[in-house]
Amino acid sequence: MNTIETTNLVHAFSEKEIALQGINMQVPEGAIYGFLGPNGAGKTTTLRLLLGLLKKQQGTISFFGKPFEQNRIATLQKVGSLIESPSIYAHLTATENLAVLQKIYQCPKQRIAEVLELVGLSGTGKKKAGKFSLGMKQRLSIAIAMLNDPSILILDEPTNGLDPNGIIEMRELLKRLNQEKKITILISSHLLSEIEKLVTHVGIIHKGNMMFQGTLPELISKQQQTSHLSIGTSDNGRALSIINDQQLNAKITAEKIILPLLPKEKIVQMNELLVKNNIGVFEITTVKNDLETIFMDLIK
Ligand SMILES: Nc1ncnc2c1ncn2[C@@H]1O[C@H](COP(=O)(O)OP(=O)(O)OP(=O)(O)O)[C@@H](O)[C@H]1O
Ligand SMILES: [Mg+2]
Repeated sequence: MNTIETTNLVHAFSEKEIALQGINMQVPEGAIYGFLGPNGAGKTTTLRLLLGLLKKQQGTISFFGKPFEQNRIATLQKVGSLIESPSIYAHLTATENLAVLQKIYQCPKQRIAEVLELVGLSGTGKKKAGKFSLGMKQRLSIAIAMLNDPSILILDEPTNGLDPNGIIEMRELLKRLNQEKKITILISSHLLSEIEKLVTHVGIIHKGNMMFQGTLPELISKQQQTSHLSIGTSDNGRALSIINDQQLNAKITAEKIILPLLPKEKIVQMNELLVKNNIGVFEITTVKNDLETIFMDLIK
């Protein structure tokens, strides 16, 4: 069963501006789902709809297989979230910040120490949150989201603005929450490189449309499909016509001959053929599309 599922989610802020064009999202139980897209793609809008922070216009949203509208309170009790900048009291310590919310949520007092431990902020003592680094503030926000002992975390770009070290710390924290506490995580980002080491599933959104959705291995196999050969020769023009006589669908790009990846034997044969025709071959390389390139291709 999917922990979160939407069908045909459409949202327009005005007649002209349709932010979401029919989002079908499936977040399986136990997944770390990376919701990727460039600025303005519709990530925050989708997440706000999921949390009921925006009024739904069209489509369906369900959590744990039940319609969100009919189970709003029960659902939100199981969801921790961080949308846009966290609301932290700068003049209070981490513990005091959590104590305020513990009273509001009416969760057990001992939860405060537990979540501080969980996010690695137990040792911050009397230090005011206003003096925390951005990474610490983000971890305090995760602690706040965890206070209610949720089974789902919905996080909108929690790595935004963090340095490489802060990004690694956040990644380790989220992995731990997922594995040890069995929390399903939906995390948005505009950078694949920031989350590819974390996620199990990926949804790529662009201009309000879901361009890809699947497991990380599925995204990687897409990458293998788009790998190609790049060949440098002393006479690309002639080499191109010889290669294409073999029906290989090559083209010249940036002074290299580019063609779909071939098995090893075929590469050897092609090289022999070129050399036989007095063409100097100085380079044959396999170019693997990295995930970033696939992402850029999908949103082009
Ligand atoms: N409150 C609003 N009023 C009008 N338009 C909005 C509002 N919020 C978002 N939009 C528009 O909806 C589209 C999607 O915005 P959204 O904030 O969901 O994108 P995003 O993927 O979260 O981008 P970013 O990476 O910049 O956070 C954009 O074109 C944005 O201008
Ligand atoms: Mg956003």
